[in-house]
Amino acid sequence: MLVDIIGGARPNFMKIASVIRALESAQSTGGSLRYRLVHTGQHYDARMSGDFFVQLNIPEPDVNLEVGSGTQAVQTSAIMIRYEKLLRGQRSDLCLVVGDVNSTMACSIAAKKLGIRVAHVEAGIRSGDWTMPEEINRVVTDSITDFFFTTSEVANQNLRRSGIPDERIFFVGNTMIDTLNANMGRIKPPAFWDDFALKHRNYVIVTLHRPSNVDELSQLHATLTAIADGCRGRPLIFPIHPRTAKTLQDAAPLPANVRIVEPQPYLEFIFLTKNAMAVVTDSGGITEETTVMGVPCMTLRNTTERPETVTVGTNELIGTNPAALRAAFDRLFENRWKTGSIPEKWDGKAGQRIVAVLEQVLGRGGL
Ligand code: UD1
Repeated sequence: MLVDIIGGARPNFMKIASVIRALESAQSTGGSLRYRLVHTGQHYDARMSGDFFVQLNIPEPDVNLEVGSGTQAVQTSAIMIRYEKLLRGQRSDLCLVVGDVNSTMACSIAAKKLGIRVAHVEAGIRSGDWTMPEEINRVVTDSITDFFFTTSEVANQNLRRSGIPDERIFFVGNTMIDTLNANMGRIKPPAFWDDFALKHRNYVIVTLHRPSNVDELSQLHATLTAIADGCRGRPLIFPIHPRTAKTLQDAAPLPANVRIVEPQPYLEFIFLTKNAMAVVTDSGGITEETTVMGVPCMTLRNTTERPETVTVGTNELIGTNPAALRAAFDRLFENRWKTGSIPEKWDGKAGQRIVAVLEQVLGRGGL
């Protein structure tokens, strides 16, 4: 049985690393599944892609579709056309997609239309925000998925409500947290740690890349200024996403405590996060990592598809109005931030559970 594992954009790579490790471990003890690693090329810079393969010991992709950047439709269609061609040359028995990026949706559609079954890791999560391309990607992918691997009971319920029978839903835990746990002993400070006089809990990490926060210069500038004020002079470390960098090109000067750095490799980014006094972000995956590490997290969005990071973890939705940051930082500095705990089954074993299910369902010819 040949499983295609699809990776396309940065947040996919931590997730596929866990599944690949589990597949290889199963192979070494007689497991029957083989895999073909397909990189769509949605992200292509070393800082957004190659560095993660090296640090997380992900093998070289068997195939790189090299689609590159483009509008939503250009990128999605390029992935579909190229992946379909690959499948017509050599079919696989299952297409395993992770997360909610354009590569996730595009490959699942191409595979399903050729009669190849689809497994979706991180299925069932919903923000209810249809302005996010990721929400559309999630719903479309789940509408044609055969095997749903979920991270939470809320995701299970979302799937049940949409009519998915229980026997196709597998609550396995969180592959991103598998990779976090597996690499915690390897994390390391970035080269600028000493240059910026960073110390445990004396700085804030900021990541912003959602179009609603970064595509308009005035919004982005106001947000960074409000965070810089909230930090009360402490360093604000801002690893900048290429999309955000484009907007900031023409910006007026930012407050002196804003330190813009390149996108960080995985081991350095986790080190920075673990030691930060807080993280301000619009990413979804980072809210899961801060929850597990117990680091206060302020999310600059109005919704989340990962509600357990708020109800169980250390995350809070601050919204997109920069004025709301002041009160959030006040609570942080007054030591009134919640402590949180770790959500159910986020225990580092999701990849193993996924592979065990696949061995079973593919071995006996499916459900
Ligand atoms: C994509 C995902 C988003 C994910 C994010 C993580 C979709 C719809 N969005 O958003 O869910 O959270 O990745 O980073 O799939 N660029 C580079 N180098 C690269 C890749 C991109 O410079 O290696 C630049 C290009 O100018 C491109 C822009 O960044 O136009 C945006 O990249 P794109 O893949 O379209 O979306 P992201 O904003 O990265």
